[in-house]
Amino acid sequence: MSRKRPLIVVSNRGPVTYDRDEHGARVERRGGGGLVTALRGLREEHDVTWIASASTEEDRVVAREGGTEVVLVAHDPSAYDAYYNVIANPLLWFVQHSLWGLADAPELDRALHDAWHDGYVEVNAAFAGAVVAQLDNNPDAIVFFHDYHLYLAPRLVREARPDALLAHFVHIPWPGDLSTLPSELRQPILDGLLANDVVGFHTERWARNFVHTCGDIGTTTVTHHAISVDAGEFDALARSEAVHEQEQLIARGEKLIVRVDRTDPSKNIVRGFHAFELFLAEHPEWHRRVSMLALLDPSRQAVPEYAAYLERIEQAVEAVNGRFGDERWLPVDLQVADNFPQSVAAYKQYDVLLVNAVFDGLNLVAKEGPLVNTRDGVLVLSENAGAHEELAPWAVSVNPFDVAGQADAIHAALTMPDDERRRRATGLREQVRAHGIAAWTSAQLADFDAALARRRSRNVDA
Ligand code: F6P
Repeated sequence: MSRKRPLIVVSNRGPVTYDRDEHGARVERRGGGGLVTALRGLREEHDVTWIASASTEEDRVVAREGGTEVVLVAHDPSAYDAYYNVIANPLLWFVQHSLWGLADAPELDRALHDAWHDGYVEVNAAFAGAVVAQLDNNPDAIVFFHDYHLYLAPRLVREARPDALLAHFVHIPWPGDLSTLPSELRQPILDGLLANDVVGFHTERWARNFVHTCGDIGTTTVTHHAISVDAGEFDALARSEAVHEQEQLIARGEKLIVRVDRTDPSKNIVRGFHAFELFLAEHPEWHRRVSMLALLDPSRQAVPEYAAYLERIEQAVEAVNGRFGDERWLPVDLQVADNFPQSVAAYKQYDVLLVNAVFDGLNLVAKEGPLVNTRDGVLVLSENAGAHEELAPWAVSVNPFDVAGQADAIHAALTMPDDERRRRATGLREQVRAHGIAAWTSAQLADFDAALARRRSRNVDA
Protein backbone atom coordinates (compact mmCIF):
# COMPACT_ATOMS: atom_id res chain seq x y z
CA MET A 1 0.00 0.00 0.00
CA SER A 2 1.19 3.51 -0.81
CA ARG A 3 2.19 6.17 1.73
CA LYS A 4 -0.11 7.38 4.50
CA ARG A 5 -2.39 10.21 3.30
CA PRO A 6 -4.27 12.91 5.15
CA LEU A 7 -7.91 12.32 4.22
CA ILE A 8 -11.17 13.86 5.34
CA VAL A 9 -13.87 11.26 4.71
CA VAL A 10 -17.39 12.71 4.72
CA SER A 11 -20.48 10.50 4.81
CA ASN A 12 -23.89 10.63 6.42
CA ARG A 13 -23.35 7.44 8.39
CA GLY A 14 -20.21 7.21 10.45
CA PRO A 15 -17.85 4.32 11.25
CA VAL A 16 -19.02 4.28 14.86
CA THR A 17 -22.08 5.34 16.75
CA TYR A 18 -22.45 5.82 20.50
CA ASP A 19 -25.07 4.73 23.01
CA ARG A 20 -25.41 4.23 26.78
CA ASP A 21 -25.70 0.77 28.31
CA GLU A 22 -28.05 -0.13 31.17
CA HIS A 23 -25.46 1.14 33.69
CA GLY A 24 -25.26 4.49 31.93
CA ALA A 25 -21.80 3.83 30.52
CA ARG A 26 -20.98 4.96 26.98
CA VAL A 27 -20.72 2.14 24.45
CA GLU A 28 -19.32 2.35 20.93
CA ARG A 29 -21.03 0.37 18.14
CA ARG A 30 -19.78 -0.26 14.64
CA GLY A 31 -21.83 1.77 12.10
CA GLY A 32 -23.89 -0.36 9.71
CA GLY A 33 -24.22 -0.48 5.93
CA GLY A 34 -22.01 -1.40 3.02
CA LEU A 35 -20.34 1.97 2.67
CA VAL A 36 -19.12 2.02 6.25
CA THR A 37 -17.98 -1.60 6.11
CA ALA A 38 -16.02 -0.98 2.95
CA LEU A 39 -14.38 2.23 4.11
CA ARG A 40 -13.40 1.16 7.61
CA GLY A 41 -10.04 -0.10 6.31
CA LEU A 42 -9.08 3.41 5.17
CA ARG A 43 -8.75 4.43 8.81
CA GLU A 44 -6.18 1.72 9.46
CA GLU A 45 -4.03 2.64 6.47
CA HIS A 46 -4.29 6.43 6.37
CA ASP A 47 -4.53 9.53 8.47
CA VAL A 48 -8.31 9.83 8.33
CA THR A 49 -10.65 12.31 9.94
CA TRP A 50 -14.19 11.07 9.36
CA ILE A 51 -17.09 13.54 9.39
CA ALA A 52 -20.58 12.04 9.81
CA SER A 53 -24.02 12.87 11.17
CA ALA A 54 -24.72 12.36 14.85
CA SER A 55 -27.46 9.73 14.76
CA THR A 56 -28.16 8.93 18.42
CA GLU A 57 -28.60 11.04 21.57
CA GLU A 58 -25.20 9.88 22.76
CA ASP A 59 -23.68 10.85 19.38
CA ARG A 60 -24.93 14.37 20.05
CA VAL A 61 -23.18 14.39 23.42
CA VAL A 62 -19.97 13.16 21.75
CA ALA A 63 -20.42 15.84 19.06
CA ARG A 64 -20.60 18.56 21.74
CA GLU A 65 -17.53 17.18 23.52
CA GLY A 66 -15.47 17.00 20.31
CA GLY A 67 -11.94 15.60 20.39
CA THR A 68 -12.53 12.15 18.82
CA GLU A 69 -11.16 11.21 15.40
CA VAL A 70 -14.75 10.98 14.18
CA VAL A 71 -16.32 14.42 13.91
CA LEU A 72 -20.05 14.02 14.50
CA VAL A 73 -22.18 16.84 13.18
CA ALA A 74 -25.31 17.38 15.31
CA HIS A 75 -27.99 18.68 12.95
CA ASP A 76 -31.26 20.31 13.88
CA PRO A 77 -33.58 17.24 14.28
CA SER A 78 -36.32 18.51 11.99
CA ALA A 79 -33.79 19.53 9.32
CA TYR A 80 -32.22 16.08 9.56
CA ASP A 81 -35.62 14.41 9.29
CA ALA A 82 -36.44 16.36 6.12
CA TYR A 83 -32.99 15.68 4.65
CA TYR A 84 -32.91 11.93 5.39
CA ASN A 85 -36.56 10.83 5.39
CA VAL A 86 -37.99 13.13 2.69
CA ILE A 87 -35.20 14.09 0.26
CA ALA A 88 -32.38 11.52 0.43
CA ASN A 89 -34.75 8.60 1.05
CA PRO A 90 -37.11 8.32 -0.72
CA LEU A 91 -36.75 11.09 -3.35
CA LEU A 92 -33.12 10.80 -4.47
CA TRP A 93 -32.89 7.09 -3.71
CA PHE A 94 -36.07 6.36 -5.67
CA VAL A 95 -35.04 8.57 -8.61
CA GLN A 96 -31.58 7.03 -8.82
CA HIS A 97 -32.87 3.46 -8.53
CA SER A 98 -35.73 4.19 -10.99
CA LEU A 99 -38.30 3.03 -8.43
CA TRP A 100 -41.20 5.38 -9.09
CA GLY A 101 -44.24 4.24 -11.03
CA LEU A 102 -44.41 7.64 -12.71
CA ALA A 103 -48.17 7.72 -13.29
CA ASP A 104 -48.68 8.42 -9.59
CA ALA A 105 -45.38 9.27 -7.96
CA PRO A 106 -43.49 11.30 -7.05
CA GLU A 107 -45.71 14.27 -6.34
CA LEU A 108 -43.35 17.11 -5.50
CA ASP A 109 -45.62 19.21 -3.33
CA ARG A 110 -44.87 22.27 -1.23
CA ALA A 111 -43.73 20.12 1.69
CA LEU A 112 -41.14 18.46 -0.57
CA HIS A 113 -39.76 21.82 -1.64
CA ASP A 114 -39.64 22.95 1.98
CA ALA A 115 -37.80 19.74 2.91
CA TRP A 116 -35.26 20.52 0.22
CA HIS A 117 -34.56 24.06 1.46
CA ASP A 118 -34.93 23.53 5.20
CA GLY A 119 -33.49 20.02 5.29
CA TYR A 120 -31.21 18.92 2.45
CA VAL A 121 -29.68 22.37 1.81
CA GLU A 122 -29.25 23.07 5.51
CA VAL A 123 -27.68 19.71 6.40
CA ASN A 124 -25.31 19.94 3.43
CA ALA A 125 -24.29 23.43 4.58
CA ALA A 126 -23.57 22.05 8.06
CA PHE A 127 -21.39 19.30 6.55
CA ALA A 128 -19.56 21.86 4.40
CA GLY A 129 -18.89 24.00 7.47
CA ALA A 130 -17.44 21.00 9.30
CA VAL A 131 -15.21 20.18 6.31
CA VAL A 132 -13.90 23.74 6.06
CA ALA A 133 -13.09 23.72 9.80
CA GLN A 134 -11.09 20.53 9.32
CA LEU A 135 -9.28 21.96 6.30
CA ASP A 136 -8.22 24.87 8.50
CA ASN A 137 -6.38 22.35 10.73
CA ASN A 138 -5.13 20.30 7.82
CA PRO A 139 -5.04 22.30 4.56
CA ASP A 140 -3.38 19.52 2.53
CA ALA A 141 -6.00 16.90 3.33
CA ILE A 142 -7.97 15.42 0.44
CA VAL A 143 -11.72 15.63 1.02
CA PHE A 144 -13.56 12.44 0.08
CA PHE A 145 -17.37 12.84 0.04
CA HIS A 146 -19.68 9.85 -0.13
CA ASP A 147 -23.08 9.34 -1.61
CA TYR A 148 -26.37 10.98 -2.38
CA HIS A 149 -26.82 12.64 0.99
CA LEU A 150 -24.08 15.15 0.26
CA TYR A 151 -24.44 16.40 -3.30
CA LEU A 152 -24.46 20.10 -2.37
CA ALA A 153 -21.56 20.18 0.10
CA PRO A 154 -18.65 20.10 -2.41
CA ARG A 155 -19.72 23.36 -4.09
CA LEU A 156 -19.89 25.11 -0.71
CA VAL A 157 -16.44 23.82 0.26
CA ARG A 158 -15.05 24.79 -3.15
CA GLU A 159 -16.28 28.37 -2.70
CA ALA A 160 -14.59 28.58 0.71
CA ARG A 161 -11.39 26.69 -0.26
CA PRO A 162 -10.77 27.02 -4.01
CA ASP A 163 -7.52 25.02 -3.88
CA ALA A 164 -8.73 22.00 -1.92
CA LEU A 165 -8.68 18.61 -3.63
CA LEU A 166 -12.27 17.34 -3.52
CA ALA A 167 -13.53 13.92 -4.57
CA HIS A 168 -16.98 12.35 -4.38
CA PHE A 169 -17.91 8.69 -4.65
CA VAL A 170 -21.54 7.91 -5.51
CA HIS A 171 -22.37 4.43 -4.20
CA ILE A 172 -25.76 4.15 -5.89
CA PRO A 173 -26.75 3.98 -9.57
CA TRP A 174 -26.76 7.07 -11.74
CA PRO A 175 -29.89 6.73 -13.88
CA GLY A 176 -30.11 7.40 -17.59
CA ASP A 177 -32.57 10.20 -16.99
CA LEU A 178 -32.87 12.71 -14.15
CA SER A 179 -35.87 14.55 -15.54
CA THR A 180 -38.11 13.52 -12.61
CA LEU A 181 -36.33 16.24 -10.65
CA PRO A 182 -37.26 19.88 -11.31
CA SER A 183 -34.31 22.05 -12.31
CA GLU A 184 -34.48 23.79 -8.92
CA LEU A 185 -33.13 20.52 -7.46
CA ARG A 186 -31.36 19.02 -10.47
CA GLN A 187 -29.09 21.98 -11.19
CA PRO A 188 -27.66 22.39 -7.68
CA ILE A 189 -27.09 18.62 -7.51
CA LEU A 190 -25.07 18.60 -10.73
CA ASP A 191 -23.37 21.85 -9.83
CA GLY A 192 -22.40 20.42 -6.44
CA LEU A 193 -20.97 17.24 -7.92
CA LEU A 194 -19.11 19.15 -10.62
CA ALA A 195 -17.32 21.17 -7.95
CA ASN A 196 -15.28 18.03 -7.22
CA ASP A 197 -11.97 17.24 -8.91
CA VAL A 198 -13.00 13.59 -9.19
CA VAL A 199 -16.44 11.94 -9.21
CA GLY A 200 -16.40 8.15 -8.89
CA PHE A 201 -18.95 5.40 -9.47
CA HIS A 202 -18.89 1.63 -9.14
CA THR A 203 -19.47 0.90 -12.81
CA GLU A 204 -18.87 2.23 -16.27
CA ARG A 205 -22.66 2.22 -16.80
CA TRP A 206 -23.33 4.70 -13.97
CA ALA A 207 -20.31 6.83 -14.93
CA ARG A 208 -21.51 7.08 -18.54
CA ASN A 209 -25.02 8.02 -17.42
CA PHE A 210 -23.56 10.77 -15.24
CA VAL A 211 -21.46 12.19 -18.08
CA HIS A 212 -24.53 12.07 -20.32
CA THR A 213 -26.67 13.89 -17.69
CA CYS A 214 -24.08 16.61 -17.23
CA GLY A 215 -23.77 17.30 -20.96
CA ASP A 216 -21.59 20.37 -21.33
CA ILE A 217 -22.49 22.20 -18.11
CA GLY A 218 -19.12 21.62 -16.42
CA THR A 219 -16.01 19.48 -16.30
CA THR A 220 -14.60 17.05 -13.78
CA THR A 221 -12.82 13.73 -13.94
CA VAL A 222 -15.34 10.86 -13.85
CA THR A 223 -13.98 7.45 -12.88
CA HIS A 224 -15.38 4.01 -12.10
CA HIS A 225 -13.99 1.44 -9.70
CA ALA A 226 -16.18 -1.24 -8.14
CA ILE A 227 -15.88 -1.30 -4.37
CA SER A 228 -15.16 -4.61 -2.70
CA VAL A 229 -14.72 -6.40 0.59
CA ASP A 230 -11.85 -7.42 2.83
CA ALA A 231 -11.39 -11.15 2.16
CA GLY A 232 -9.32 -11.60 5.34
CA GLU A 233 -12.10 -10.10 7.45
CA PHE A 234 -14.65 -12.50 5.95
CA ASP A 235 -12.35 -15.50 6.34
CA ALA A 236 -12.00 -14.66 10.04
CA LEU A 237 -15.74 -14.10 10.41
CA ALA A 238 -16.48 -17.42 8.71
CA ARG A 239 -14.30 -19.18 11.30
CA SER A 240 -15.73 -17.27 14.28
CA GLU A 241 -17.72 -18.82 17.11
CA ALA A 242 -20.64 -16.43 16.52
CA VAL A 243 -21.00 -17.67 12.94
CA HIS A 244 -20.61 -21.34 13.90
CA GLU A 245 -23.40 -20.92 16.45
CA GLN A 246 -25.66 -19.43 13.79
CA GLU A 247 -24.83 -22.24 11.37
CA GLN A 248 -26.20 -24.79 13.84
CA LEU A 249 -29.53 -22.93 13.75
CA ILE A 250 -29.98 -23.01 9.98
CA ALA A 251 -32.63 -25.55 9.07
CA ARG A 252 -31.85 -26.98 5.68
CA GLY A 253 -33.27 -29.72 3.51
CA GLU A 254 -31.57 -30.98 0.38
CA LYS A 255 -31.07 -27.49 -1.08
CA LEU A 256 -31.06 -23.97 0.35
CA ILE A 257 -31.72 -20.71 -1.48
CA VAL A 258 -30.56 -17.65 0.46
CA ARG A 259 -31.14 -13.93 0.11
CA VAL A 260 -29.61 -11.27 2.38
CA ASP A 261 -30.83 -7.70 2.00
CA ARG A 262 -32.05 -4.56 3.66
CA THR A 263 -35.85 -4.30 3.34
CA ASP A 264 -35.47 -1.84 0.51
CA PRO A 265 -37.77 -1.65 -2.52
CA SER A 266 -34.66 -1.47 -4.74
CA LYS A 267 -33.74 -5.00 -3.64
CA ASN A 268 -36.77 -6.50 -5.43
CA ILE A 269 -37.60 -8.85 -2.58
CA VAL A 270 -41.30 -9.24 -3.38
CA ARG A 271 -40.66 -10.24 -7.02
CA GLY A 272 -38.07 -12.71 -5.70
CA PHE A 273 -40.79 -14.44 -3.64
CA HIS A 274 -43.14 -14.38 -6.63
CA ALA A 275 -40.42 -16.07 -8.69
CA PHE A 276 -39.91 -18.75 -6.04
CA GLU A 277 -43.68 -19.28 -5.89
CA LEU A 278 -43.82 -19.71 -9.67
CA PHE A 279 -40.85 -22.11 -9.57
CA LEU A 280 -42.63 -24.23 -6.94
CA ALA A 281 -45.85 -24.17 -8.96
CA GLU A 282 -44.03 -25.35 -12.08
CA HIS A 283 -41.73 -27.86 -10.33
CA PRO A 284 -43.64 -29.97 -7.81
CA GLU A 285 -40.70 -32.42 -7.86
CA TRP A 286 -38.82 -29.84 -5.73
CA HIS A 287 -41.48 -29.59 -3.01
CA ARG A 288 -40.05 -30.36 0.44
CA ARG A 289 -36.55 -30.56 -1.03
CA VAL A 290 -35.73 -26.87 -1.21
CA SER A 291 -36.44 -23.83 0.94
CA MET A 292 -35.61 -20.16 0.79
CA LEU A 293 -34.01 -18.41 3.76
CA ALA A 294 -34.59 -14.65 3.55
CA LEU A 295 -32.49 -12.65 6.02
CA LEU A 296 -33.77 -9.11 5.85
CA ASP A 297 -32.46 -6.16 7.81
CA PRO A 298 -35.29 -3.69 8.51
CA SER A 299 -34.34 -0.43 6.86
CA ARG A 300 -35.52 3.22 6.90
CA GLN A 301 -38.85 2.43 8.54
CA ALA A 302 -39.61 6.10 9.16
CA VAL A 303 -40.08 6.47 5.40
CA PRO A 304 -43.66 5.39 4.53
CA GLU A 305 -42.62 3.69 1.27
CA TYR A 306 -40.23 1.47 3.21
CA ALA A 307 -42.74 0.58 5.93
CA ALA A 308 -45.29 -0.35 3.25
CA TYR A 309 -42.70 -2.45 1.42
CA LEU A 310 -41.95 -4.49 4.53
CA GLU A 311 -45.68 -5.26 4.82
CA ARG A 312 -45.74 -6.41 1.20
CA ILE A 313 -42.75 -8.64 1.88
CA GLU A 314 -44.58 -10.31 4.77
CA GLN A 315 -47.72 -10.78 2.65
CA ALA A 316 -45.75 -12.32 -0.22
CA VAL A 317 -44.11 -14.82 2.17
CA GLU A 318 -47.49 -15.74 3.67
CA ALA A 319 -48.82 -16.34 0.17
CA VAL A 320 -46.03 -18.81 -0.74
CA ASN A 321 -46.10 -20.60 2.61
CA GLY A 322 -49.92 -20.72 2.64
CA ARG A 323 -50.03 -22.17 -0.85
CA PHE A 324 -47.28 -24.79 -0.59
CA GLY A 325 -46.18 -25.22 3.02
CA ASP A 326 -47.33 -27.90 5.43
CA GLU A 327 -46.41 -29.15 8.89
CA ARG A 328 -43.21 -30.70 7.51
CA TRP A 329 -42.05 -27.95 5.22
CA LEU A 330 -41.76 -24.14 5.42
CA PRO A 331 -40.94 -23.03 1.86
CA VAL A 332 -39.82 -19.53 2.89
CA ASP A 333 -38.14 -18.83 6.22
CA LEU A 334 -38.37 -15.05 6.65
CA GLN A 335 -36.18 -13.50 9.34
CA VAL A 336 -36.45 -9.75 9.74
CA ALA A 337 -33.49 -8.73 11.90
CA ASP A 338 -30.08 -7.13 11.82
CA ASN A 339 -27.91 -10.19 12.50
CA PHE A 340 -24.60 -10.15 10.65
CA PRO A 341 -23.24 -13.50 12.01
CA GLN A 342 -26.46 -15.12 10.80
CA SER A 343 -25.92 -13.64 7.33
CA VAL A 344 -22.36 -15.00 7.17
CA ALA A 345 -23.61 -18.41 8.35
CA ALA A 346 -26.18 -18.39 5.54
CA TYR A 347 -23.49 -17.32 3.04
CA LYS A 348 -21.51 -20.43 3.98
CA GLN A 349 -24.52 -22.68 3.51
CA TYR A 350 -26.33 -21.56 0.38
CA ASP A 351 -26.75 -23.66 -2.76
CA VAL A 352 -28.25 -20.65 -4.53
CA LEU A 353 -27.75 -16.99 -3.61
CA LEU A 354 -30.49 -14.77 -5.03
CA VAL A 355 -29.54 -11.13 -5.77
CA ASN A 356 -32.28 -9.80 -8.05
CA ALA A 357 -32.14 -6.03 -7.33
CA VAL A 358 -34.25 -3.68 -9.48
CA PHE A 359 -31.15 -1.50 -9.62
CA ASP A 360 -28.17 -1.48 -7.28
CA GLY A 361 -25.04 0.67 -7.24
CA LEU A 362 -22.94 -2.44 -6.67
CA ASN A 363 -24.37 -5.00 -4.19
CA LEU A 364 -21.81 -6.32 -1.74
CA VAL A 365 -23.86 -9.46 -0.94
CA ALA A 366 -22.90 -10.74 -4.39
CA LYS A 367 -19.24 -10.53 -3.34
CA GLU A 368 -19.47 -11.50 0.33
CA GLY A 369 -21.43 -14.70 -0.24
CA PRO A 370 -19.12 -16.36 -2.78
CA LEU A 371 -16.07 -15.55 -0.61
CA VAL A 372 -17.15 -17.79 2.25
CA ASN A 373 -19.58 -20.25 0.64
CA THR A 374 -18.66 -23.91 1.18
CA ARG A 375 -21.12 -25.65 -1.18
CA ASP A 376 -20.14 -24.38 -4.66
CA GLY A 377 -23.31 -22.31 -4.46
CA VAL A 378 -24.64 -20.59 -7.58
CA LEU A 379 -25.05 -16.80 -7.71
CA VAL A 380 -28.26 -15.68 -9.45
CA LEU A 381 -27.54 -12.02 -10.19
CA SER A 382 -29.59 -9.13 -11.53
CA GLU A 383 -28.18 -7.58 -14.66
CA ASN A 384 -29.00 -4.19 -13.07
CA ALA A 385 -26.77 -4.71 -10.03
CA GLY A 386 -23.45 -2.90 -10.45
CA ALA A 387 -21.64 -6.10 -9.47
CA HIS A 388 -22.95 -7.70 -12.65
CA GLU A 389 -20.43 -5.72 -14.72
CA GLU A 390 -17.66 -7.62 -12.91
CA LEU A 391 -19.22 -10.96 -11.93
CA ALA A 392 -21.41 -11.84 -14.93
CA PRO A 393 -19.03 -14.48 -16.35
CA TRP A 394 -19.66 -16.72 -13.32
CA ALA A 395 -23.24 -15.81 -12.40
CA VAL A 396 -26.65 -16.86 -13.70
CA SER A 397 -27.93 -13.51 -14.95
CA VAL A 398 -31.54 -12.41 -14.52
CA ASN A 399 -33.64 -9.48 -15.59
CA PRO A 400 -35.11 -8.18 -12.31
CA PHE A 401 -38.59 -7.59 -13.74
CA ASP A 402 -38.81 -11.01 -15.40
CA VAL A 403 -40.37 -13.16 -12.69
CA ALA A 404 -40.65 -16.15 -15.04
CA GLY A 405 -36.99 -15.73 -15.97
CA GLN A 406 -36.05 -15.72 -12.28
CA ALA A 407 -38.10 -18.90 -11.70
CA ASP A 408 -36.18 -20.51 -14.58
CA ALA A 409 -32.88 -19.25 -13.15
CA ILE A 410 -33.68 -20.83 -9.77
CA HIS A 411 -34.38 -24.12 -11.53
CA ALA A 412 -31.20 -23.86 -13.63
CA ALA A 413 -29.12 -23.11 -10.53
CA LEU A 414 -30.61 -26.01 -8.53
CA THR A 415 -30.07 -28.51 -11.32
CA MET A 416 -26.65 -27.30 -12.53
CA PRO A 417 -24.07 -30.10 -12.85
CA ASP A 418 -21.51 -30.22 -10.05
CA ASP A 419 -18.48 -29.44 -12.20
CA GLU A 420 -20.18 -26.37 -13.64
CA ARG A 421 -21.17 -25.16 -10.17
CA ARG A 422 -17.58 -25.61 -9.01
CA ARG A 423 -16.16 -23.77 -12.03
CA ARG A 424 -18.42 -20.78 -11.42
CA ALA A 425 -18.01 -20.70 -7.63
CA THR A 426 -14.22 -20.85 -7.98
CA GLY A 427 -14.26 -18.10 -10.59
CA LEU A 428 -16.31 -15.83 -8.32
CA ARG A 429 -14.11 -16.46 -5.31
CA GLU A 430 -10.89 -15.82 -7.22
CA GLN A 431 -12.25 -12.63 -8.78
CA VAL A 432 -13.31 -11.19 -5.41
CA ARG A 433 -10.05 -12.20 -3.72
CA ALA A 434 -7.98 -10.66 -6.50
CA HIS A 435 -10.01 -7.42 -6.47
CA GLY A 436 -10.56 -6.72 -2.78
CA ILE A 437 -11.07 -3.46 -0.95
CA ALA A 438 -7.34 -2.67 -0.98
CA ALA A 439 -7.41 -2.55 -4.81
CA TRP A 440 -10.37 -0.14 -4.70
CA THR A 441 -8.61 2.13 -2.19
CA SER A 442 -5.40 2.17 -4.27
CA ALA A 443 -7.40 3.05 -7.37
CA GLN A 444 -9.05 5.97 -5.55
CA LEU A 445 -5.69 7.27 -4.31
CA ALA A 446 -4.21 7.00 -7.81
CA ASP A 447 -7.15 9.09 -9.12
CA PHE A 448 -6.53 11.68 -6.39
CA ASP A 449 -2.80 11.82 -7.23
CA ALA A 450 -3.58 12.37 -10.90
CA ALA A 451 -6.05 15.12 -9.99
CA LEU A 452 -3.49 16.76 -7.69
CA ALA A 453 -0.92 16.69 -10.47
CA ARG A 454 -3.43 18.33 -12.84
CA ARG A 455 -4.27 20.95 -10.24
CA ARG A 456 -0.56 21.72 -9.69
CA SER A 457 0.20 22.00 -13.39
CA ARG A 458 -2.78 24.35 -13.82
CA ASN A 459 -1.47 26.49 -10.97
CA VAL A 460 2.02 26.59 -12.56
CA ASP A 461 0.54 27.57 -15.95
CA ALA A 462 -1.63 30.29 -14.42
O1 F6P B 1 -24.70 3.53 -0.58
C1 F6P B 1 -25.88 3.00 -0.07
C2 F6P B 1 -25.98 3.18 1.41
O2 F6P B 1 -25.96 4.53 1.78
C3 F6P B 1 -24.87 2.39 2.13
O3 F6P B 1 -24.21 3.14 3.06
C4 F6P B 1 -25.57 1.33 2.91
O4 F6P B 1 -25.43 0.09 2.33
C5 F6P B 1 -27.00 1.70 2.90
O5 F6P B 1 -27.19 2.63 1.85
C6 F6P B 1 -27.40 2.15 4.24
O6 F6P B 1 -28.38 3.07 4.25
P1 F6P B 1 -28.77 3.86 5.55
O7 F6P B 1 -27.53 4.60 5.98
O8 F6P B 1 -29.88 4.76 5.12
O9 F6P B 1 -29.19 2.83 6.53
